[in-house]
Amino acid sequence: MSRLAVVSGGGTGIGRSTAGMLAGEGYDVIIVGRRAEVLADAVKWIGPQASGVTADVSDPAQIPAVVEAVGGRPVDVLVNNAGAFVSGTDSTLDSVADHWRASFDSNVLTAVLLTTALLPSLRRPGGRIILTSSIAAQRGGGGPYSAAKAALHGYALDLAVALGGEGITANVISPGYVIDSEFFDGRMTPEGHQKRVDATLLKRPGEPQDIAEAVRWLTGPGGAYVTAQIINVNGGSVLGR
Ligand SMILES: NC(=O)c1ccc[n+]([C@@H]2O[C@H](COP(=O)([O-])OP(=O)(O)OC[C@H]3O[C@@H](n4cnc5c(N)ncnc54)[C@H](OP(=O)(O)O)[C@@H]3O)[C@@H](O)[C@H]2O)c1
Repeated sequence: MSRLAVVSGGGTGIGRSTAGMLAGEGYDVIIVGRRAEVLADAVKWIGPQASGVTADVSDPAQIPAVVEAVGGRPVDVLVNNAGAFVSGTDSTLDSVADHWRASFDSNVLTAVLLTTALLPSLRRPGGRIILTSSIAAQRGGGGPYSAAKAALHGYALDLAVALGGEGITANVISPGYVIDSEFFDGRMTPEGHQKRVDATLLKRPGEPQDIAEAVRWLTGPGGAYVTAQIINVNGGSVLGR
């Protein structure tokens, strides 16, 4: 039987590219997202090894649908990629609380709930957990988004400590500016784009495949001895942190 990977947020952008890469490596891939039609398009794009589960993974009540789709098979790779920049007005304490809670739900609980539910299913030894953070965790600039992504780093380190003895690795991939996803939909200007490209040493934006290649390395033989690390894939826009 093929190895199995689960990719949250696998319907678009970085997650879709990662799921496609994993399918190419021979994995059966379960992609998870909130919009059924987006998942259906991605499944078509990825190919017959892919299947979609419609679920909001920040909602404990919706996580069992993913566990059901796994169906008792060992999970070789779990990519916690779902997340979003949540906007807020911050005009009152209530709106600040709403903004921070929504950001935390979207970027932290999504990873914590899915990982917790799939933990018993992870292959022992050999399972690989990846969490998708952001350059914003290291250099700020995103308010609660930066703080939520930074929280993933501490969580990943705890996972790595707890699971290392069972042969499971846990690492964070921290992307810089990546185009061809929905992440900046409605928020990007030509100037904003150019500023982000200029901030890289390689003078180009990241592409979803750049992140998928880091996942390929971490989930392949090259990643066997890598755990509890923050892997930066940012074209040099943050130096060696
Ligand atoms: N693009 C960048 O420059 C950049 C930089 C650093 C980090 N990142 C991080 O990379 C990850 C992927 O982002 P992307 O750029 O590929 O953007 P994207 O196209 O917006 O991808 C995010 C995916 O996550 C899914 N999702 C969001 N919340 C979810 C939830 N609660 N439950 C289930 N699925 C959920 C979305 O689908 P539905 O809306 O259908 O649920 C979407 O497919 C995110 O964690 C993002 O924070 C992106």
